Amino acid sequence: RCFFVNTFSVLCLLPQAVLTRWACVRACPASCSCTQEKSCSVLCDRSGIAEVPKEFPCEASAINLDKNALKFLSERAFGTLPALKLLSLDHNNISFITPGAFKGLANLVELKFANNDYISYLHTRTFSGLKKLVRLDMSNCNLFNIPDRIFLEQPALKEVLCFENHFRRIPGAFRGMENLTHLYLERNRIEAVAYNSLLGLGSLKYLNLQENRINVIHDGAFQDLLRLENFYFNDNLLCDLPRFAFRGLVRLKMLNLGGNLLTNVSKTWFGDLVELEVLYLDRNQLLNIEEGTFENLTSLITLHLNSNNLTTLPLPVFQPVYLLGRLFLFRNPWVCDCSLEWLKGWKESYQLVRDIPCASPSSVAGLDLSEVVFARVNGTCVDPGELNLTTAPSEIASTTENRFNSLISKLLQQEIREEMGNGTESLRNGTLLDPEDGRLSAGVGGHRAQASQSILCVIAVWLFLDLIGRSDMNPCLSCT
Ligand SMILES: *[C@@H]1O[C@H](CO)[C@@H](O)[C@H](O)[C@H]1NC(C)=O
Ligand SMILES: *[C@@H]1O[C@H](CO)[C@@H](O)[C@H](O)[C@H]1NC(C)=O
Ligand SMILES: *[C@@H]1O[C@H](CO)[C@@H](O)[C@H](O)[C@H]1NC(C)=O
Ligand SMILES: *[C@@H]1O[C@H](CO)[C@@H](O)[C@H](O)[C@H]1NC(C)=O
Ligand SMILES: *[C@@H]1O[C@H](CO)[C@@H](O)[C@H](O)[C@H]1NC(C)=O
Ligand SMILES: *[C@@H]1O[C@H](CO)[C@@H](O)[C@H](O)[C@H]1NC(C)=O
Ligand SMILES: *[C@@H]1O[C@H](CO)[C@@H](O)[C@H](O)[C@H]1NC(C)=O
Ligand SMILES: *[C@@H]1O[C@H](CO)[C@@H](O)[C@H](O)[C@H]1NC(C)=O
Ligand SMILES: *[C@@H]1O[C@H](CO)[C@@H](O)[C@H](O)[C@H]1NC(C)=O
Repeated sequence: RCFFVNTFSVLCLLPQAVLTRWACVRACPASCSCTQEKSCSVLCDRSGIAEVPKEFPCEASAINLDKNALKFLSERAFGTLPALKLLSLDHNNISFITPGAFKGLANLVELKFANNDYISYLHTRTFSGLKKLVRLDMSNCNLFNIPDRIFLEQPALKEVLCFENHFRRIPGAFRGMENLTHLYLERNRIEAVAYNSLLGLGSLKYLNLQENRINVIHDGAFQDLLRLENFYFNDNLLCDLPRFAFRGLVRLKMLNLGGNLLTNVSKTWFGDLVELEVLYLDRNQLLNIEEGTFENLTSLITLHLNSNNLTTLPLPVFQPVYLLGRLFLFRNPWVCDCSLEWLKGWKESYQLVRDIPCASPSSVAGLDLSEVVFARVNGTCVDPGELNLTTAPSEIASTTENRFNSLISKLLQQEIREEMGNGTESLRNGTLLDPEDGRLSAGVGGHRAQASQSILCVIAVWLFLDLIGRSDMNPCLSCT
């Protein structure tokens, strides 16, 4: 069975029955320990080894050389070990792997050389001979790229771990690897996902691109990832996504877009994600979520919208409400006016969301939405007040001035209409005022009637001040 002849491998010529138990232990390299339980394992970790031992037991199925001081792997560094399935070289100081270093390990399934800080280059033929390789870990090395054709002899490769290297783009080596299921590229320096970076990865289930510097995704970049289930795209520099970025990803269960620079969520993004259970959009700068955005997410369990710039969340964003699990909304500058009344009710009925802190109107700032009391007048919700009419802080005066101006002009129009004889009623109802301006004068849970009085007072004072050229003064202060 053995082609690499040395003192120990002669043993391999003996019948299998004789070999069991003692051969593995007898042929154990110095400074390693060998165990023969189900199969022969050679344990050489943490032994200060600076050079690969010359010989290993021929029937070795696992070799662990982690945490040594290996610097260099020569050609056929491990000889011929037809039974070897696992080789682990993590945490060494390897700086160069000679092409063909692993030749003779024809049945190797898993190769690990993570945490070797000086490997910055791999030759196209680094892995030649490893025809059965399924799992490869080269994380936390010093790689800037790998050759496009490096995996040509590894048709069975399923998992590649390349996180914490210095890749500036997704290596072309992965293109067309139809059997790849897991790809770990987090914490590199990747800046873009090109339309062809991930072509042909039809078996990929797990893709991790988190903590890179990606600011561009080309149209159709993910189009072949039809079996993708877990997708980490968080902590990049995305301001926007292609309109149909995730089209066809019907198997996706978890999508993490947290920690980017997104401001708008388009309803075209998630239209196909019928199996999506968890969606992270936290830690962006979201201002708008288009209505209908979540309408096809019929499997959604958890939605993270916390730590954004959202002020409101219209009910239609969630219609039809399929969301069955949890909704995270904390750390947003919520405007707790009547447009969020539905959310308060929903929150109370389902107990699925906590912490919706109000940033405004000022009368409820600092409260949680659940503590806001929405007054009702004739069945209509009344927004909490923007200003404290009794002692309005003077710094608000300048920002409210424009609103007063528009309010005044509306009231003036109203007066003209009144002269025409049919505006009185609408003024009394206060319905002519748009909600924003109405809120100004309505006070905390104020009544419309009261509001109208204040408005009349305001207009009087304002006109008076205007006449005497003191328009910089806040008319509200004089009114009560
Ligand atoms: C590891 O290798 C590098 C470069 O080959 C060398 O500069 C460094 O001293 C080595 N470190 C140890 C601990 O041997
Ligand atoms: C994927 O695996 C199949 C069967 O194991 C093999 O025939 C095929 O060549 C592999 N594909 C690639 C691109 O290596
Ligand atoms: C976000 O949406 C708003 C309103 O729909 C629009 O005015 C703005 O241009 C959008 N911004 C981006 C970056 O798409
Ligand atoms: C939801 O799915 C339907 C049917 O596939 C599709 O017509 C519609 O455009 C999708 N909605 C969105 C917002 O993409
Ligand atoms: C979101 O809010 C932060 C601070 O709260 C601010 O620095 C940032 O400019 C805002 N982003 C947008 C898009 O408004
Ligand atoms: C409520 O409606 C009734 C008539 O429907 C009216 O008399 C009353 O003034 C209204 N109240 C307020 C505060 O507008
Ligand atoms: C708002 O007005 C109330 C009385 O209506 C007063 O007790 C409270 O101190 C005022 N708050 C501020 C911030 O001025
Ligand atoms: C009320 O005003 C509208 C315009 O605002 C006018 O079309 C209508 O004829 C007026 N009705 C009466 C009764 O004056
Ligand atoms: C004012 O309220 C009355 C009933 O309260 C209603 O019939 C009328 O249409 C309202 N006016 C306006 C302009 O909405």
